[in-house]
Amino acid sequence: MALSRTEKPKTTRGQDSLKPGSLPAHVAIIMDGNGRWARTQGLPRVEGHARGMDVVRLIVEECSRLKIEHLTLFCFSSENWKRPQPELDFLMQLLGRYLVSERKLLAEKNIRFGTLGRKDQLPAEVLGEIEETKRLCRENTGMGLSLAINYGGRGEIADAVRNIAKQVQLGKLTPEEISEEVISSSLYTAGIPDPDLLIRTAGEMRISNFLLWQVSYSEIWVTEKTWPEFGIADLQLAFQDFARRERKFGGLNS
Ligand code: FPP
Repeated sequence: MALSRTEKPKTTRGQDSLKPGSLPAHVAIIMDGNGRWARTQGLPRVEGHARGMDVVRLIVEECSRLKIEHLTLFCFSSENWKRPQPELDFLMQLLGRYLVSERKLLAEKNIRFGTLGRKDQLPAEVLGEIEETKRLCRENTGMGLSLAINYGGRGEIADAVRNIAKQVQLGKLTPEEISEEVISSSLYTAGIPDPDLLIRTAGEMRISNFLLWQVSYSEIWVTEKTWPEFGIADLQLAFQDFARRERKFGGLNS
C-alpha cells in the first residue's frame, strides 16, 4: 500500500477545493499521539488525552458545519486494555464526561450518534452514558457520529462471521448467499457507507486494526502532527488533498 505523508497541499486552491461536491462523505480518524504530545509538554500522558478530547469537540463541530455525512473516531481500541490501570480509568472517565458534556452540541447540530465495538468490558457508567446519548439523539437527522470504543477490526469481522454462521445454522441463509453485501451488513457499521478518507495523526503508517474491511478503498492521509495539535487548518489540508485524489476503485482513469 503506498501511503504518502502530505503535510502541505501541492497547490493552493484554498477554500475552493472545500466545496461540498469535493468533500469526503465519510471521514474516519485514528487520533494518535496524545501521549507523545504530553511528553513534549512535560505533562503526564493523561493530559494528552484531556487535550485530545477538546480537539474531538472542535473537529466534530467543524465536520458538522461542513455537512460531512459521517465521522468515525477511533477512541479506544480492543488492544488498549493493555495500558496501565490508571490510564484506563482516566480514559473511561473522560469518555463518560465527553458523552455528558457533548449532548448539548449533538442536539444543537442535529448530530446522529452511535458507537462501534464490543460492549463487554466497558464500565457500566460508560455504557449508561452511551445508551442515554443514543436515546437523546435518536430523532436527529444530521451528520452521523460513530465513536469506536473497545473496537477492533478483526474482532468485528469475527463477530460478523459468527452471526452469519448462526443464520446458516438456522437455515435462514445458504453458504452461497454469503456475499460482500451480507458481510458488510453484518459488521458494526451496517448501513454506514465505507470511509472515503482515513486520517491518521502522529505520523505512523499503520491501520492499527481500524475498520479493516471498510477502508479497502479509502484514501489515506497521514500528518506528523499529534492529535492534541490537530486543528481545523489540518482538516482543511486533508480535505484539499482528498479533493485532488483520483479514485479508480480498481478501474481505469476516466
Ligand atoms: C492515542 O494516543 C489515543 C488514544 C488511545 C485515545 C484517543 C482518545 C482521545 C482522543 C481523547 C478522548 C476522546 C473522547 C471522545 C473523549 P496515544 O496515547 O496512543 O499516544 P502515543 O502513541 O503518543 O502514546
